Amino acid sequence: MAKFAFGGVEEEVVTREEFPLEKAREVLRDEVVAVLGYGVQGPAQALNMRDNGIKVIVGQKTGSSSWDRAVTDGWIEGKTLFTLEDATERATVIQFLVSDAGQKTMWPAIKPRLKSGAALYFSHGFAVVYRDQTGVVPPGDVDVILVAPKGSGRSVRANFLNGSGINSSYAVHQDYTGRALERTLALGMAVGSGYLFPTTFENEVYSDLTGERGVLMGALAGMMEAQYEILRKNGHSSSEAFNETVEELTQSLIRLVAQNGMDWMYANCSTTAQRGALDWKGRFREAVAPVFEDLYQSVRTGEETRIVLAANGTADYKEKLEGELKRMRESEMWRAGAAVRALRPENWK
Ligand SMILES: NC(=O)c1ccc[n+]([C@@H]2O[C@H](COP(=O)([O-])OP(=O)(O)OC[C@H]3O[C@@H](n4cnc5c(N)ncnc54)[C@H](OP(=O)(O)O)[C@@H]3O)[C@@H](O)[C@H]2O)c1
Repeated sequence: MAKFAFGGVEEEVVTREEFPLEKAREVLRDEVVAVLGYGVQGPAQALNMRDNGIKVIVGQKTGSSSWDRAVTDGWIEGKTLFTLEDATERATVIQFLVSDAGQKTMWPAIKPRLKSGAALYFSHGFAVVYRDQTGVVPPGDVDVILVAPKGSGRSVRANFLNGSGINSSYAVHQDYTGRALERTLALGMAVGSGYLFPTTFENEVYSDLTGERGVLMGALAGMMEAQYEILRKNGHSSSEAFNETVEELTQSLIRLVAQNGMDWMYANCSTTAQRGALDWKGRFREAVAPVFEDLYQSVRTGEETRIVLAANGTADYKEKLEGELKRMRESEMWRAGAAVRALRPENWK
């Protein structure tokens, strides 16, 4: 493993140089990999592995739009596309990529079909770490491993297609065969990872649940709504409020952060902006720190997973989520967003 310093702290990261795709193919030569679930991660990881020459089959509940999508993507019923149960029986590596709530529901059907020596693979520590809630306690005679791409399944596939990749974290929870680590790294590279960062199931799930509820999604949307509303309340037009809250961030500033860090973005804004942002950053940090403290506790105590399992375990979970997203889409702020996006210079005909 190569050593890299992160903010002065050294960590070991697996690179493509030490674990190239040829090595991954060799490790997985005699394996059949079943990707269970064709939602967001399932298609991306399955298609990337198929394109990388790995023997992949897909397991998906029948009579669902996800099944139809799998057919459209070239998976063939009875050959490479099966029910979740049949795919499990045919495979030596089982990638459990149904939704986290779906993993709880399906576990009683999957568990008895796992062969001794199989690898049970997750892309989230959720089911295993919160086993008291999910009931997912793997048998002792299988490897239990994790590769969690640090991005949406959409980016996993898009980055693969454009020749780059996505970074993932990886962990081994149980090594029955003595091959768990090499299987994990091989699968990590085969699904299209660039670099593989070591973690544990626990650390992956605690940080991931905090991140998506916090800065990555929940806090992001909440902060944007709060600023947009203040601007509107004070008489600014909706396009102005949207431009100053979202558009300038996504079209310019966050790209500079991605390129070269926060100070680089600051340095490329006016000195007026820098002075104000440096002064206000501390107040925002203090204001939200207690909320992040609550959030982390809510993750650690299992309250967040309890909510997810209750909400997403119902038959109509998709409609309910879509209803909430629709309300967001139809709010003034995001309708303004659609209009502003249409006026991006790149959309000039
Ligand atoms: N989304 C991401 O980009 C992402 C990123 C990193 C890690 N992960 C992890 O990857 C795993 C898969 O997540 P995902 O977002 O790809 O999943 P998802 O889109 O939420 O899951 C949809 C898949 O799960 C199936 N499913 C849901 N409930 C089911 C049930 N009760 N019985 C049988 N099948 C059921 C769906 O089938 P139907 O369509 O037929 O209902 C569909 O195939 C999770 O552990 C997640 O935390 C996801």
